[in-house]
Amino acid sequence: MKHLKLMRAIVFRNYGDPQEVMELVDDRKIPKPNKNEVLVKIECASINAADRYIVRANYFIIRMVFGLFRPSKKKRILGMDIAGTIQLIGKNVKGYQVGDAVVADIRKSFGGGYAEYAIVNAQHLVKKPEAVSFEKAATVPISGQAAMMGMILCSINPGDKVLINGASGGVGSFGVQIAKAQGAYVTAICSTKKVEAVKSWRADEVVDYREKDSIKALIGNEFDAVFDTASFECPSRYKQILKKDGKYVLVGGDFYNMLKVKFLGRFGRGSQKFMALTQKVEVTTNIKTVLEMIADKKIKPAIQKVISLKDVPDALHSLEQRTVVGKIVVNLNKEV
Ligand SMILES: NC(=O)c1ccc[n+]([C@@H]2O[C@H](COP(=O)([O-])OP(=O)(O)OC[C@H]3O[C@@H](n4cnc5c(N)ncnc54)[C@H](OP(=O)(O)O)[C@@H]3O)[C@@H](O)[C@H]2O)c1
Repeated sequence: MKHLKLMRAIVFRNYGDPQEVMELVDDRKIPKPNKNEVLVKIECASINAADRYIVRANYFIIRMVFGLFRPSKKKRILGMDIAGTIQLIGKNVKGYQVGDAVVADIRKSFGGGYAEYAIVNAQHLVKKPEAVSFEKAATVPISGQAAMMGMILCSINPGDKVLINGASGGVGSFGVQIAKAQGAYVTAICSTKKVEAVKSWRADEVVDYREKDSIKALIGNEFDAVFDTASFECPSRYKQILKKDGKYVLVGGDFYNMLKVKFLGRFGRGSQKFMALTQKVEVTTNIKTVLEMIADKKIKPAIQKVISLKDVPDALHSLEQRTVVGKIVVNLNKEV
């Protein structure tokens, strides 16, 4: 395999404020795929909440994975989901050709999406449907996939009442639309400035948590499922608005709430089930399903804006400031 040249990438050499520690460089060596991998020329990547937590090393576990005092050399490019075209193929990789348009979740290789090229293990590749643009496709592997997985765990049936907390975010924007596409009656919780956007994604009711205590305001409801992407309340508060056999699925928010739900057992009453997001279905299967839903126009990724590579640190800053509605996409072809 012929080795290519250097590439542009956003790298972070220290933990801290994304606008201070991340920088655009143009001298990163383009990586070489091994026999089970492909090299993808990235067309688009998307901004995810995980990246902002990693850059700040908010939790000790991040330092254990990415490097104790500073990110280790091999893990300095973030960006967990990509859409692009295959440039080089390892000799064991079957079913793909140079030039194929693909989509991938690259969390298992610690990211690499905020760059012109990335290595992807062939197991993580999904072919991009022609009807879905690279920009839309890049929003799917983490946010769209997590929303689909959450809805599977919620086991939604048509007519079910579903509550989505954190509805205005990357995962929430997909959650609202997927639940609606599955025939649910959706109540969404978000902050004041984002209410109109969430309504535009077809939520049936929107509760503004800045105006009132949303859980208190919803007492009297019996939801079949709660899908929580912003778990900053004690999850046990939801048991009063869940059906006796209702399901609560925690996707993100406070890390310690996640640990509590995952490891410390029960919050619910009766046969209520409290779960932290786990993979019940292959990630690639969920990605394909969400891409098909987009191709069939059943859902539409809520892209707030498309930015160039150099603007990634500012985009992570916006996520921290909570001024993002839906998703931000990085288009590598946009002028720097
Ligand atoms: N396990 C997985 O596979 C997986 C996959 C994707 C994401 N996640 C996790 O899921 C969470 C959401 O991800 P995302 O991409 O949707 O993030 P996001 O785009 O930043 O959206 C999160 C939403 O939560 C709301 N929020 C933020 N801070 C809040 C607070 N302190 N109190 C109440 N609401 C708050 C914000 O809405 P308002 O401004 O309207 O309040 C924001 O729109 C993150 O923790 C992420 O790490 C997990």
